[in-house]
Amino acid sequence: MTTPQPGIFIEGSGHHHYLEYTVAPDGDMDDLNAVLTELSALCTHAPPAAHVVLAFGPKMWTRLSPAAKSVGLRPFEAIDGVDGHVVPSTQRDIFVWIHGDRLDDVFDAAMTVQRTLKPVASLAFDDRGFIYHDARDLTGFIDGSANPKADAARDAALIPEGQIGAGGAFVLTQQWVHDLDSWGALPQTEQERIIGRTKPDSIELKGDAMPPDSHVSRTDVSEDGVPLKIYRRSAPFGSAGRHGLYFLAFSCDLHRFDVQLRRMFGIAGDGEHDRLIGFSQAVSSSYWFAPSLEDLGEIFRNTVKNT
Ligand code: HEM
Repeated sequence: MTTPQPGIFIEGSGHHHYLEYTVAPDGDMDDLNAVLTELSALCTHAPPAAHVVLAFGPKMWTRLSPAAKSVGLRPFEAIDGVDGHVVPSTQRDIFVWIHGDRLDDVFDAAMTVQRTLKPVASLAFDDRGFIYHDARDLTGFIDGSANPKADAARDAALIPEGQIGAGGAFVLTQQWVHDLDSWGALPQTEQERIIGRTKPDSIELKGDAMPPDSHVSRTDVSEDGVPLKIYRRSAPFGSAGRHGLYFLAFSCDLHRFDVQLRRMFGIAGDGEHDRLIGFSQAVSSSYWFAPSLEDLGEIFRNTVKNT
């Protein structure tokens, strides 16, 4: 049995910190490995005041892992959607997600990560997330109602046992900046038709009441009778002037993300798109791989031996 990074599945943290780094392609591998060995130890601390999840972009994973660990990770490709809706690719090399109950503990952990990585990597994205009321997105809707739970969450998020990269997860991160003025100008019933759920209590709209271009209709999708579930851990971010959702999700394959995004952005070939994209703009997007603790241990133990 493989062990996923525990922080992926620990829910309920009130404070989140997201760090994305780029690494120079000609950076010294021994230095990088020594730093990442230190960092990967943070993912296993038990019980930590702050949980740390470590993931790698495609170039970084190829450099770090033996060919036998090639899991099929690829860079996020920019999306050219309907009506001029675009999603840029801001693919980076190292992603660190820190979360916990206390802002000070999460901040201390973020500073430790930054001090550790600074000699070998450039900080390209640095933002904090928070829980808004009863786990609502800033649109006012509860986010996570249809998220799979317990074993179903692991099935959705992790590469199954016996496959290359087992216990690891593909990750999609996207920062979405909301236009809350336009959103707030809509009557609640219209907002509900855009999300596909009621606002106060997150009841899914049924039958004819559920529009085909609602967010739920575009993302609740099956192929050959198999639901393409993902495990979402997004949180609101921002200030009074600029704010939105840091979308963060784990999946056992990249295809699920691709399908949902194509359906949201109106390039799935069925003539529909997600009305939600008219009220929020994705300004960053990367694909990552969060290896199991065994794979992290193997890579960095070998490194320590070799240096
Ligand atoms: C502005 C960005 C987004 C916002 C505000 C948002 C918000 C929401 C809300 C309020 C729900 C309904 C409650 C729930 O089940 O969690 C939901 C469901 C969902 N969202 Fe998003 N979401 C965003 C982006 C995305 C993206 C980029 C994806 C996929 C790549 C995605 C995938 C899903 C899925 C799979 C569901 C559950 C559908 C179901 O099975 O009922 N969302 N989202």
